[in-house]
Amino acid sequence: MIRVKFVDERGERVVEAAEGETLMQAARYDAFTTLLGECGGSCICASCHAYIDAAWLQALPPVSINEAQMLDVIENCRYNSRLTCRVRLKPELDGITVRIPRRAG
Ligand code: FES
Repeated sequence: MIRVKFVDERGERVVEAAEGETLMQAARYDAFTTLLGECGGSCICASCHAYIDAAWLQALPPVSINEAQMLDVIENCRYNSRLTCRVRLKPELDGITVRIPRRAG
């Protein structure tokens, strides 16, 4: 299993998920996360947007054209923004930290 630390305005929690699952799927193991994933991982909603701690960026898969287009329209996009439904877990990501942006409203 691969450990993922999610951080949001309510604190931080570590969940375990299997290799091959996405960060978005891992977030759903923790009912307290505020990461939504409304389109179910089809890369058309951007509600799974999160910030990846800099130490982990090199280990991530490259940003696809589709993901880049979605990130372009996110208001709070940063250098370390990713759509978590586009990042599949692998052993090199064990211990990754994912920061979930505060939701408006
Ligand atoms: S879940 Fe919709 S873009 Fe990731």
